Amino acid sequence: MRERLNELLVEVESFTAKKPEQVEEFRIKMLGSKGVLKELFADFKNVPNEHKKEVGQLINQVKEQAQLKIDEFKALFENIITVDNTIDLTKPGFPTTVGSRHPISLVKNEIIEIFSRIGFTVSEGPEIEDDWHNFSALNFPPEHPARDMQDTFFVESESGEMALRTHTSSVQVRIMENTKPPIRTLSPGRVYRNEAISARAHCFFHQIEGLYIAENVSFADLKQTLLYFAKEMFGEQTEIRLRPSYFPFTEPSAEVDVSCSVCGGKGCNVCKYSGFLEILGCGMVDPNVLENCGIDSKKYSGFAFGMGVERIAMLKYKINDLRLFSEGDVRFLSQFKAAQ
Ligand code: DAH
Repeated sequence: MRERLNELLVEVESFTAKKPEQVEEFRIKMLGSKGVLKELFADFKNVPNEHKKEVGQLINQVKEQAQLKIDEFKALFENIITVDNTIDLTKPGFPTTVGSRHPISLVKNEIIEIFSRIGFTVSEGPEIEDDWHNFSALNFPPEHPARDMQDTFFVESESGEMALRTHTSSVQVRIMENTKPPIRTLSPGRVYRNEAISARAHCFFHQIEGLYIAENVSFADLKQTLLYFAKEMFGEQTEIRLRPSYFPFTEPSAEVDVSCSVCGGKGCNVCKYSGFLEILGCGMVDPNVLENCGIDSKKYSGFAFGMGVERIAMLKYKINDLRLFSEGDVRFLSQFKAAQ
């Protein structure tokens, strides 16, 4: 029996397999229910007592070695990928389609990038606002008709009446309440107004608010900042035009037009033959607003501006329907630069 076991040990050690079936065959032969080892265990009772220990150890050794071999080859075959000769593995793979950035994100990021070069940071505020931040602190007196300039969606909440913010000017208030001047920040975000949806109006859209508060900030600083922005955004040849306007939170206030990038200011159907396109509202922050936010209006002054991101994207990409931005139509979206 000892001889037989030593032979088996050699057989196990020299076992190799080229195919998984050979491993299975080997397993059945060695460890199967009618296998060699079963037989040997059955004969074990005939081994004289004084050899039992030695023979027992040998049987176990054969069993363990056989199991090791089986595991080794099984692992080997599991990791081998059978090569199908009909496939050309050197061919390039199928291209994966990469999504594109939304035009609103592209324009928003470009605006932020332009202003960050002259020191503006980015700040954000909540889309559900209280009356103070959206209206009162911005110098809209209660019951004042200026509140009707923006049709508001009101929201009922446990802490009283809230509203979906109608403009990102609400973030100005939050920043001024919490930051000591100098302040130089941009606040991008979504705003909501109760408007009928059409090609030119939507119940939600995006704005970017700009705010600069420091000592001795003048209207000239505002004009120069906006001229810099217009040239960076629409090209070096761009001119700006300021028209007097009214906003409760700025005094004086203005609306800003840029020379039409389609006709270069000569007049075309995009600019309705005026040569200019309106892009934003701006002004010097009203001293009342500064005081409402705890900033000393004798020491500090500043300017603010607010622009619609959709409006700028429409000019830049010559898009003529506001609804396209929120319909999620891939035929529209995939025309914009691939995501990086
Ligand atoms: N909040 C104004 C709007 O939604 C835009 C605006 C105008 C913002 C003048 C300003 C500003 O900061 O100074 O129509």
